[in-house]
Amino acid sequence: MEIFHHSCDMQAWALRQDSIAFVPTMGALHEGHLSLVDAAHSKAGKVVVSIFVNPTQFTDPKDFEKYPRNIQDDFSKLKSAGVDAVLCPQVEDMYRTASQTWVEVSNLAQRWEGTFRPGHFRGVATVVLKLFQIVQPRFAIFGEKDFQQVRIIEQMVADLFCPIEIVRGEIFRESSGLAMSSRNIRLTAEEHRQALGISRGLFQAVKAVQQGERKSIQLENIVRAEIEKGSLAKIDYIASVCEKNLEPISRLSDEATRLLVAVQYPSVRLIDNIALVI
Ligand code: PAF
Repeated sequence: MEIFHHSCDMQAWALRQDSIAFVPTMGALHEGHLSLVDAAHSKAGKVVVSIFVNPTQFTDPKDFEKYPRNIQDDFSKLKSAGVDAVLCPQVEDMYRTASQTWVEVSNLAQRWEGTFRPGHFRGVATVVLKLFQIVQPRFAIFGEKDFQQVRIIEQMVADLFCPIEIVRGEIFRESSGLAMSSRNIRLTAEEHRQALGISRGLFQAVKAVQQGERKSIQLENIVRAEIEKGSLAKIDYIASVCEKNLEPISRLSDEATRLLVAVQYPSVRLIDNIALVI
């Protein structure tokens, strides 16, 4: 496995390859990331993973500092997963002092995470476009746990004519139901126990849809009730949204719909989602 610390070396290697499938990450890799690597292997002859904790997408500098980092462990996981190359650049390389260009995806970035983390998606879109330019992938795999992020990247790629197919990777859950996230290790045992209310609520909402419920408010209340069984939870939002434009909907129709959730626990903020109508 090649390890590149400089964007120019990575790009020179990438330009010599036929077809690359790319998994961008911020490291602290877990099985969810490795499932995206598996998906990448099924798409192209070469698989590249980036590990870069991107400062411009953190609203709170303390969150950036506290973000888990475990690079040696990440390398050994990626090597076992058969990854061909890893890019782990320095901040100064990705954001050179003279750099002046930012990517903003307007409407999709405004609601939900955009409200609670101003500037977050500007940082994400900018770094992802930079990574695409460096890695030159034909395919890029993004986990659906960050559903709004996936939609924003799909929109950016379409708007800017990037010759890249965005592949969605399904949410990978612990056996308890909790969606895997690098941030989960910051949950205390009690917060972890209470956070299981999120997936429990989402699964119950899907069951209610299967039994004929169509009103968003009823489905959102099912999720709210499960999460609020935990006294530490502070709900930022629970929303049934159209998958395409991420606008809230009041009643399910035939259109693809997601139920999005964000909850703040004292140690960490968690997001999750589930498809209500595919
Ligand atoms: O989802 C993430 O880990 C990050 O937002 C990404 C896509 C690697 C950009 O920094």
